[in-house]
Amino acid sequence: MLGSARSDMRDKVQNVAVIGAQWGDEGKGKIVDLLCESFDVVARYQGGHNAGHTVKFEDKHFALRLIPSGIIHPDKLCLLGNGMVIDPDALLSEIESLRAAGLTVGENLLISDSAHCILPYHKALDLAREQAAGVAKIGTTGRGIGPAYEAKVGRYGIRIADLVDPAVLRQKIEFTCAERNAVLSGVYKSATFDPNKLYEDYLRYGEILGPRITNGTVWINEQIRAKKRVMFEGAQGTMLDIDHGTYPFVTSSNTVVGGVCTGLGVAPKHIHTVVGVGKAYTTRVGGGAFPTELNDAHGEHLRKRGNEFGTVTGRPRRTGWLDLPVLRTSAILNGLDELALTKLDVLDEFDEIRVCTSYKVRGETWNTFPAFAVAHDDYQPEYRTFKGWQTSTAGVTSYDDLPQAARDYVKFIEDETETKATIISTGPRREETILR
Ligand code: IMP
Repeated sequence: MLGSARSDMRDKVQNVAVIGAQWGDEGKGKIVDLLCESFDVVARYQGGHNAGHTVKFEDKHFALRLIPSGIIHPDKLCLLGNGMVIDPDALLSEIESLRAAGLTVGENLLISDSAHCILPYHKALDLAREQAAGVAKIGTTGRGIGPAYEAKVGRYGIRIADLVDPAVLRQKIEFTCAERNAVLSGVYKSATFDPNKLYEDYLRYGEILGPRITNGTVWINEQIRAKKRVMFEGAQGTMLDIDHGTYPFVTSSNTVVGGVCTGLGVAPKHIHTVVGVGKAYTTRVGGGAFPTELNDAHGEHLRKRGNEFGTVTGRPRRTGWLDLPVLRTSAILNGLDELALTKLDVLDEFDEIRVCTSYKVRGETWNTFPAFAVAHDDYQPEYRTFKGWQTSTAGVTSYDDLPQAARDYVKFIEDETETKATIISTGPRREETILR
């Protein structure tokens, strides 16, 4: 199996972080699933059900949003970390659909008591703000992610632990709901929420999820101490990081590897290898800077051939050429040890493939992403053009079987990012992978 082909990873390191190196949707689900076999625990450290990936396994498709893909393997333990924001209703639906597909979801799933809850008024605020913002809207997934993180940082959020503490839950819901209702009705002229109904609903979620709730930090550190192998599963991507991404067109959490430390309570010394997942081209969903975007037939070809439509919202993704300054920035921010290069086969039919190698900003050359220049839109991507290979690489499993032009393309990316592409994906299935 491919997982055991990665047994070298097992010998060398205990814990691995898998991080999106671009704007999300890089194919992390497949890579996590591929590497999963040699790990005991898969833990998520940020985000919520704004994430979404489909894992194909034994001719079944599993749609995952909150739960790490380790859940598909019965012997893996999965943790939803304290850095996440969890909509209990969405979590229960996901558990139900996985069970309906024949999977066991029980003691193999743990939820950190310090993770925060998404409430319906968070979702309503997310949608109302987006609508009010007009053309300046972020293009969020509309799941209430931003408002839930705001509540956390504002120190009035409702934590998972509160779901099993009725007195605290009631008091917190009454306080926050009154305040959020005032904003919803006063500012946005939107419908308000009944705190009693929310209390009843969230108390019920607590009753159902109660046995799954634990002190996630203590638990994961016990696993690490017991030499269990942990995979830290990132959601979204580096350029959507709240601090380091294309702010304000970002998500509200730290998607970079630093988020593992705070979002799980794991010390940096326990993160032994960082794998960045990046597509052979670039996509993003929602608004914000995308300098290599293609609004032409090439972009349409990438969208169709790459099936670039959101798993959560179904939105068509914006598509463009590979952006090396983005990948270099990602390599720096995450200390990437390895690159998993996905969807190489999507480029098969192009006669020419362009790659953004740097930016010209106010007369200076920038090799990393020029975030400071985005607001003024005064940057110029500089490209290098490669000859396309115009041969099918779909399903190729050996590097030597790739056409020379494809190998040149991969080599150029490796050289420019100073990161080896140890995994190259040539199709959605597990087997359609080159391991090096
Ligand atoms: P939010 O996370 O729903 O607040 O959305 C903020 C931004 O992040 C929007 O541009 C979304 O399209 C983007 N985003 C959130 N989750 C994902 C993801 O899983 N893949 C790609 N983009 C995402």
